[in-house]
Amino acid sequence: MITANKIHHIGIAVKDLDDSIKVYRDLLGLELKEVEEVKEQKVKAASLKIGEVNIELLEATSADSAVAKHIDKRGEGLHHICIDVDDIKGALKNLAEAGVRLVDETPRTGAGGRLVAFLHPRSTSGVLVELSAVG
Ligand code: CO
Repeated sequence: MITANKIHHIGIAVKDLDDSIKVYRDLLGLELKEVEEVKEQKVKAASLKIGEVNIELLEATSADSAVAKHIDKRGEGLHHICIDVDDIKGALKNLAEAGVRLVDETPRTGAGGRLVAFLHPRSTSGVLVELSAVG
């Protein structure tokens, strides 16, 4: 078992970041914190704060990005849930030993310079789970 602190953000795959920001910021009233390109994941990400949690809107910057593939297959919608942990390397080791399928065996750099790693949805009831820790 790992120590899960809280939900850090909920990732939503979108076709047009600006259009989606208009809805989440201007209509739903969330606070836009940051828009950044995450080259490693081939996405442009907008973080919007709601309480302690962020909504992360994700637009693909390349046709072979995981977000582009998600939109091709399922359209826009929920892409992943991110859980904040303190020790991401220890968590991955622990989960791998317990038989959880990992997308990332070692953490990589995600939005905000945090260390992130994805778990395979087949091991997490069909939802892509991201672990994230301060980098
Ligand atoms: Co994320």
